[in-house]
Amino acid sequence: MKAIVITSPGGAEVLKIQEVEEPQIGEDEVLVKVEATAVNRADTLQRQGGYPVPQGASPYLGLECSGTILSVGKNVTGWKIGDQVCALLSGGGYAEKVAIPAGQLLPIPHGVSLKDAASFPEVACTVWSTVFMTSKLSSGETFLIHGGSSGIGTFAIQIAKYLGVKVFVTAGNEEKLAVCKVLGADVCINYKTEDFVARVKEETGGKGVDVILDNVGGPYLQKNLDSLNIDGRLFIIGFMGGVSTQVNLVSMLAKRLTVQAAGLRGRSLENKALIVSEVQKNVWPAIAAGKVKPVVYKYLPLADAAEAHSIMESSIHIGKIMLVP
Ligand SMILES: NC(=O)c1ccc[n+]([C@@H]2O[C@H](COP(=O)([O-])OP(=O)(O)OC[C@H]3O[C@@H](n4cnc5c(N)ncnc54)[C@H](OP(=O)(O)O)[C@@H]3O)[C@@H](O)[C@H]2O)c1
Repeated sequence: MKAIVITSPGGAEVLKIQEVEEPQIGEDEVLVKVEATAVNRADTLQRQGGYPVPQGASPYLGLECSGTILSVGKNVTGWKIGDQVCALLSGGGYAEKVAIPAGQLLPIPHGVSLKDAASFPEVACTVWSTVFMTSKLSSGETFLIHGGSSGIGTFAIQIAKYLGVKVFVTAGNEEKLAVCKVLGADVCINYKTEDFVARVKEETGGKGVDVILDNVGGPYLQKNLDSLNIDGRLFIIGFMGGVSTQVNLVSMLAKRLTVQAAGLRGRSLENKALIVSEVQKNVWPAIAAGKVKPVVYKYLPLADAAEAHSIMESSIHIGKIMLVP
């Protein structure tokens, strides 16, 4: 089969399409013919040599896909050859075929094309497992999403609005903020021209927001603590601005704040299966009802993975960048 290979760690140009061995499935896995996959920021880190592949995962890039089941391991129940699925992957999506643990499969949400369905697993599992399962974001609360126009952000806005949450976003330009507004964001903040802490305080009568989803890390930690309400929860999922900083801890104690951080890829198979089943139960009905839609910036052929990575690293995109074998 064809797959994208990292010929050596480096820039986007090191990604090449090559003929490789087909994956072998285990007893608890299925083999899927890939219809589409999507680019994630973590893929760009892996390409640069900065994201070691978890034990047992495919050596190829790609953390999510959609497609059709070609074969089924002997312990797998509930799925059969010919079923159309999408899935959370530990790797291997940038290929014509991928082996997938059965616990990471999801049906295609009603009303979504097989191709577009590949835009959902990574963002849905990340957002649901962090701010909903862990930070317990609930109806009536306020929620600040940094990187509102990102793949993660465009999904988080929609699911939070569907669940009755007031949504604040930051993004780096007015075009991105306009899309966030159309997706349902209530308060849109251009972090390049405005102090987001001051705006959050102004919009919440000085209280701050209940939950923050952060992809910036170090440089935002103090500002995020300052932007939280009493009993506020900060969930960090990325370090795009850097990994270290100094903070004043007084507000954490005074406001009883919780700070957490987590990744999806390194979790156990059992934990991923639990997240996937919670996503199917809680998120899939919102997609089927048309309340959460795929936000796709561009479809590119798999062979153009290098171009897809260059687009992501330029940050001009809004939503997901997709690859089609
Ligand atoms: N922990 C996990 O399990 C997990 C899973 C999935 C994703 N993530 C992380 O979540 C983040 C979003 O992922 P994604 O795939 O949705 O990425 P994405 O679509 O590429 O979006 C990231 C956005 O962040 C903004 N940004 C970039 N550098 C920034 C900086 N230094 N300061 C502030 N904003 C910056 C950019 O928009 P602006 O123009 O608005 O700056 C960019 O478009 C990434 O950090 C990714 O690694 C974590």
